[in-house]
Order: sequence, then C-alpha cells, then structure tokens
Amino acid sequence: MRKTILITGGAGFIGSHVVRLFVNKYTDYLILNLDALTYAGNLENLKDLAGSPNYLFAKGDITDLEFVSALFARYNFDGVIHLAAESHVDRSIADPMAFIKTNVFGTVNLLNAAKEAWKGSFEGKRFYHISTDEVYGALENDGTFFTESTKYQPHSPYSASKASSDHFVRAYHDTYGLPVVVSNCSNNYGSHHFPEKLIPLSINNIKHRKPIPVYGKGENIRDWLWVDDHARAIDIIFHNGKDGETYNIGGNNEWTNIDLINTLCKIMDRKLGRADGESAQLITFVTDRAGHDFRYAINSSKLQNELGWQPSLQFEEGLKKTVDWYLENEEWLEHIVNGQYRDYYAKQYENR
Ligand code: NAD
Ligand code: TYD
Repeated sequence: MRKTILITGGAGFIGSHVVRLFVNKYTDYLILNLDALTYAGNLENLKDLAGSPNYLFAKGDITDLEFVSALFARYNFDGVIHLAAESHVDRSIADPMAFIKTNVFGTVNLLNAAKEAWKGSFEGKRFYHISTDEVYGALENDGTFFTESTKYQPHSPYSASKASSDHFVRAYHDTYGLPVVVSNCSNNYGSHHFPEKLIPLSINNIKHRKPIPVYGKGENIRDWLWVDDHARAIDIIFHNGKDGETYNIGGNNEWTNIDLINTLCKIMDRKLGRADGESAQLITFVTDRAGHDFRYAINSSKLQNELGWQPSLQFEEGLKKTVDWYLENEEWLEHIVNGQYRDYYAKQYENR
C-alpha cells in the first residue's frame, strides 16, 4: 500500500462519506476507520465497503491514549483525517462535558499520539483536523462572511469545544512543527445524516405526519453544503493543502430554516402524492435554542482559488436526492429508531 491513513469518526455522517471516497478512489491506500460507535456511529453507513481489501475498522475511543498509541505503533500511519466528535449543538447544551472530553481531550490525545509516533521525522506526514464554521460565532444578515481570518467567537458548548480543539491543533504546529491542516465547514446535508439534525429529522417527521419543530421563528440562516462536496474538499485539502494552513469550506447557499422546511415540505408532498401544502401544516414553532446563532455564511474563495475546489450541486437538486435516499432506505432509518443499528458491529466484527 502506498499510504496508510487513519480516519477517525468514519462511522458517522460525514466520516462515512469520506471513508467511502478514500477507499474507492485510492485502492492503493490502506484506510483504517477508528470509531467509538457512540449513538451517532453506525456501521450500516459503510456496509457497501464490506469486503474491500483496503478498508479496516477499529472500534475504539480517541480519548484512550494507550489504545490510540498502539494503533499508531502497529500501522505506522502516514496521515490522520480527524472527524470523530460529539457534533450536536442541542446535546452540548444538555451535556457539555461529553463535548470537552471527546472534542478537546480526544483531539489532544490524537495529536500526542501522532507527535510521538512521528518523532524524528515529520516528512510525508499530515494531521488533518476537520472543524466547523460555528467556531466563528454568528453573523448578522448583512452580507458579511466568515473568512479564515475571522476572529473566533464560539457561543455554544459544541462550538467552544471545536474552537478549543482547533487552537490545540495549530499550537502543535507552531510549537512542535507537527504538519497540520485545518478546515472549517458550513452545515452539511445528504444521505446517512443522523435524524436528530434539522433536515433528516424533518424528512422523518413529514413522512410520519409528526410535527416539524422549528426553533423560534425559523429566521436563523445556515449555509448548506452537499456532504459529498465536503468529502471532495477534504480529499483535495488532505493531498494539496499547505502545512499550517486553514481552509474554509461552504456552499454559498444560505437559507432561513423556515424557507428550507417549506421547500422540503413541497418536495415531499410531490414524492408522497400528498396535496400541495399538506406537509407544511406539520410546521410547529417551538421554544428557541438557548444562545441560538443567527447566521452562518462561509467565504470559501481561498479553497476555490488556491486548490481549485467548487461545490457541485444546486440545493434543491440536493434536497430532492436526499429525500429520495431517505425514502428508498427506510430500513436504515428504522434501525436507528428501533436501536437495531447498534447490533451491526456485533454481527460483523465480534468473534472474529
Ligand atoms: P457525527 O456525529 O455524525 O459522527 C461523529 C462520529 O464520531 C460518530 O461515528 C461517533 O461514533 C464518533 N465518535 C464520537 N466520539 C468518539 C470518540 N470519543 N472516539 C472515537 N469516535 C468517536 O458527526 P458529523 O456530522 O459526521 O461530523 C463529523 C465532523 O465534522 C465533526 O468533527 C464535526 O465537528 C465536523 N463538522 C460537521 C458539520 C455538519 O454539518 N455535520 C459541519 C462542519 C464540520
Ligand atoms: P442543526 O441541524 O442542529 O445544525 P446546527 O445547529 O449545527 O446549525 O440545526 C440547523 C438549524 O435548524 C439551526 O438553526 C437550529 C434549527 N433547528 C430547528 O429549528 N429545529 C430542530 O428540530 C433542529 C434539530 C434544528
């Protein structure tokens, strides 16, 4: 194998798209997916890779230094693409410690393991940390954008933990010379998205004629990016980004939550053979999220100009494809709702 790459959090939403892209595109790389299989980790996301000769899965926690160091010693990784995280803002409001543990402590653990394993020579090595635009705080609706030099101003425990991890990654570059890259991306959408997040939750609720909870007045704005466009950006940055640099990734695709949900309702009315306007009746305005960031919007011109990346998919086309995927993969969603997805690891990997 030409390279051995550790991808953390590969059983989650974005990680599974990244693992699939790398395993299928780089058949001369060995890809090791390290994931603790928390509630958000689902190996059914990657069942199409079963039998791929260049793919390995290891169940483990990035906060466990002994385990992580043993993995580095055994596989002599050339690169790390670090996606494992607690990722849901509402959960971070309810339980901030879990976010500090995985996102901050877990990231520093991985940095230490990489630094120790690679000591002597960082030549040809790369530690790529995947982060979020939420570290920059919130914008007004005034046409401004987050750039790579926007000041960090996180508001939620989730974004504060990601901001902290970003600072540690850069500190390891500046202090120890660890070859790192960081990217900060806007909201992703697409297949295999855990149904606690706005788009898959709404699709599921519309399907079952359950209320669609819209926080506040639904006026908050997010910049949505097709998940495979994010995976493509990660591929480009991993291979061509410059050590020590940060790249913003975004869809240039801003929607208020209420406009997004109305569009989703129209798409689903058509797909489910309902009368126009039927699903929109499910929209229910609920108490706003505490500290709810008003607007996120990314300027990704550095990535576009320096590394030639472009988002590929128009939002309405992407939303239709996403709805189709959820309607065609009812079993995937059912297994999450009834908890059966947690058995997949035992069936595939235990007793081997
Ligand atoms: P996700 O919650 O779907 O997946 C996270 C994965 O990490 C899961 O498979 C989980 O089992 C694993 N994990 C959690 N704690 C772990 C631990 N201690 N050790 C090992 N594995 C652990 O998240 P996602 O939406 O796919 O996000 C992936 C990354 O991308 C995160 O770092 C997130 O901050 C970042 N990000 C997400 C978005 C988005 O819109 N979802 C946008 C920008 C950046
Ligand atoms: P979410 O998918 O949780 O992503 P993030 O908070 O990381 O941006 O939420 C997207 C937007 O949708 C955010 O403004 C909060 C809002 N939202 C709702 O209105 N209702 C919901 O049930 C959820 C989960 C989110």
